[in-house]
Amino acid sequence: MGSLSEGWTLYNAGGRHRVVVTRQLPGRRWLEILSGAGCAVEVYSRDEHLGAEEIVAAIDGRCDGCIGQLTELWGEAQFAALKAAGGSAYCNYAVGHDNVDIESATSHGIAVGNTPGVLTETTAEMAVSLTFAAARRVAEGDAFMRRGLFRGWLPDLLLGELLWRKTLGVIGVGRVGAAYARMMVEGQKMDLVYYDVVRNEALEECIAGYGSYLASRGERPVSCRRADTVVELLREADVVSLHACLDESTRHLIDASLLGQMKQSAVLVNTSRGPLIDEEALVAHCRANPGFKAGLDVFEDEPDMKPGLSELENVVLVPHLGSATTWTREGMAVLASLNVAGVLLGYPAWPHDDMRPFLVGRPPEACPSILNASRLGISTLNDR
Ligand code: GLV
Ligand code: GLV
Repeated sequence: MGSLSEGWTLYNAGGRHRVVVTRQLPGRRWLEILSGAGCAVEVYSRDEHLGAEEIVAAIDGRCDGCIGQLTELWGEAQFAALKAAGGSAYCNYAVGHDNVDIESATSHGIAVGNTPGVLTETTAEMAVSLTFAAARRVAEGDAFMRRGLFRGWLPDLLLGELLWRKTLGVIGVGRVGAAYARMMVEGQKMDLVYYDVVRNEALEECIAGYGSYLASRGERPVSCRRADTVVELLREADVVSLHACLDESTRHLIDASLLGQMKQSAVLVNTSRGPLIDEEALVAHCRANPGFKAGLDVFEDEPDMKPGLSELENVVLVPHLGSATTWTREGMAVLASLNVAGVLLGYPAWPHDDMRPFLVGRPPEACPSILNASRLGISTLNDR
């Protein structure tokens, strides 16, 4: 192993595998897992983001596996370099993987992991936070206080929207979308209309069960319906939250014409990926419709914002914090290290959605989540 370049920290120098991690990750357990699997771990410990060429340079020589960030592009150049360096494992420190060219990784025989399960409720809670913050003008109120403008309670100061018993629209009801839907429906007794290419029967059953519970107490039940089209959902919903994956079919899913179909007082929330919304069109729409509100955790050209966005009072902005709790970020690091270590140790893929067995005590001998496992012929653990 050559000498370390500036900015890199080496752990477990004597390890027989070399693993490159492009950013320091929270907690210690992930490093213990990689060290325990015989890996020397090189971690980029500075605050800047590594560029595509710097990543290739870091891999160069011998490298068995990498953990990378959602802010980096992992494509042909990186996977060809990893293959040439003798590598077989990459894990994205994220559940989303639109920054990763899985085709190219697969063609080089490299397993690609992600870190699902530990950020479901965490990200849903951020979507809930943005929903209420936007509907109830929390950021505007905060700025008002800090500017010393509060002169006493007023009947018409910063009026917002009540969400109780209104209609919730959720686009994409995978893990996070379904968790968000349940929080809002069960908390605020909202009626749900969702759009997804596949039906979510488990979610429908939960909401039907909750509806029966309400009915048994003499309250009006809540309803749940799968919309045939996005437009149909947008026309009905008082709140719309986006939880779809980003790919070519969902880029600019919400554009100027669809924004025009939404209620004028609607709240639009995005904790998924910025390019799902045409952000320039959103700026124009929010400017023209002061009663419309948006809560955004993600941006089209992250970390930049389209011109005018930050000047709008009816928009609440946070810097991609969906999964940002200590528990979740440490859990993601554990899952990422187990994915890489598992591939290097020849472990099979975990067949369940439940990631809790990996988080406490001795983890199962399996890779928690490998996206191209079947295409690479990685077997599945069949122990339950
Ligand atoms: C965060 O955005 C993630 O995909 O994990
Ligand atoms: C509001 O603060 C109220 O007491 O009605």
